[in-house]
Amino acid sequence: MKIKNICCIGAGYVGGPTMAVISLMCPEINVTVVDLDKEKINAWNDPDTSNIPVKESGLTEIIEKVRNKNLFFSTDIDNAILESEMIFIAVNTPTKTTGEGKGMAADLKYVISSAINIARVAKTDKIVVEKSTLPVRTAEKLKEVLLENARGNIKFDIISNPEFLAEGTAINDLFKSDRVLIGGEDSIRGKNAVDALVKIYEKWIPKKKIITTNIWSSELSKLASNAMLAQRISSVNSLSALCEATGADIDEVSKVIGLDKRIGPSFLKASVGFGGSCFQKDILNLVYLCRKYKLNDVADYWEQVIKINDYQKSRFSQKLLELANDKNITILGWAFKKDTNDSRESAAIYVAEILINNNMNIHVYDPMVTDERILLDLKLLFQHKKFSDAEIQKKLSMLKIHKNHKDALLSSNLIGIVTEWDEFINYNWEEIAKKNVLTVIDGRNILSERLDQVKNIKYFKL
Ligand SMILES: NC(=O)c1ccc[n+]([C@@H]2O[C@H](COP(=O)([O-])OP(=O)(O)OC[C@H]3O[C@@H](n4cnc5c(N)ncnc54)[C@H](O)[C@@H]3O)[C@@H](O)[C@H]2O)c1
Repeated sequence: MKIKNICCIGAGYVGGPTMAVISLMCPEINVTVVDLDKEKINAWNDPDTSNIPVKESGLTEIIEKVRNKNLFFSTDIDNAILESEMIFIAVNTPTKTTGEGKGMAADLKYVISSAINIARVAKTDKIVVEKSTLPVRTAEKLKEVLLENARGNIKFDIISNPEFLAEGTAINDLFKSDRVLIGGEDSIRGKNAVDALVKIYEKWIPKKKIITTNIWSSELSKLASNAMLAQRISSVNSLSALCEATGADIDEVSKVIGLDKRIGPSFLKASVGFGGSCFQKDILNLVYLCRKYKLNDVADYWEQVIKINDYQKSRFSQKLLELANDKNITILGWAFKKDTNDSRESAAIYVAEILINNNMNIHVYDPMVTDERILLDLKLLFQHKKFSDAEIQKKLSMLKIHKNHKDALLSSNLIGIVTEWDEFINYNWEEIAKKNVLTVIDGRNILSERLDQVKNIKYFKL
């Protein structure tokens, strides 16, 4: 089947960048990205591209080239479904907060409502692409929902094409993917549907990097990849605590480990812990699935990755509390990693919570995350913990967000580095230390060489 029109449901961190790259590489295909969130769609359509809602290096340049040529952002979901032969579902799949699997399983309500919407509107056969990260065997459920809600004898072919981009390097990852994974049903229709998507990726991804599998392998591979990445971070973080206790240096230890070709150097940097919208929820989901299939030992194994991550966030916070000599602490960085404005599940939120609960005033500076987002992150967390409105107000009054790093660094003499932004390395620390004697606890271990010789700064690695 030749694809002329694509619809992508979900204009978030995955839907926006992936569709921008497809539009650029396939000028003959019209791509419409739709979302229920009107404000988000308006932001994607803002003539001033610095206001697009996802900040990724290289993204604005692509948007400027293709928007309103063959890439469109719209809230008219029904029309985009109607006109497209291929529909990507790239909606959020957060951890469930109520019902069966609460706190563990992925909440599929947005995926299911997207499927109902597709079935309700479609007048012709559709290829439905699972782009969201989903529990293994979701395609089965999706098929049921599509068939139950379809009008007439419409056929839906479901394929799985999980996204492996990492925020902060999304555009580069999309252009130069390590692999593109497409899972489909073992039938002629299934193979045709997979081929239709392979043809799109082939425009810029070498064929040997396009892996086709059965649909369950594809769904599970994404969860498993994220679990393995997070597991490396927790492994090295667990060793960082042992390094501290023994006088070994975690950077030296992880360098040695990473030089083993069988292991490799990536994802071996000790830190305050992983954040982001994916790792935690995907591991929780994996643990839930293992328990569902009565694989309790396997579930316990993966659960430990999360426990070490929580341990590391709290170890960092306790260090700050131990070294505080007054009621003020500065947190540098709020995004869950550098080069993104995304703060979902950022370690900063949990560190701030612990510090505020210990009656500390916290001063925050981040180069990209907005003040509103920082406030909202903490407000939602305190609401989730069932504090009253008055208590939440009191707690939020202990947060001061600074517009520039100098003000933040002069507001306390204890600094916690939470995000690995490059600009933190380039600050004029000598100048700041002349005005303010500082203790720096580096939750990313990025400043050891930079601050080694700076007078008036006491430096601690994590
Ligand atoms: N963010 C990442 O780095 C990343 C990487 C790989 C995979 N993923 C996976 O991709 C999926 C999307 O992640 P994201 O970070 O882009 O999420 P996001 O929250 O940034 O975007 C999802 C969007 O879907 C919209 N939406 C929800 N239900 C809808 C509906 N019924 N109709 C129309 N729009 C709807 C929301 O309004 C939101 O704008 C998740 O499953 C995630 O696990 C994310």
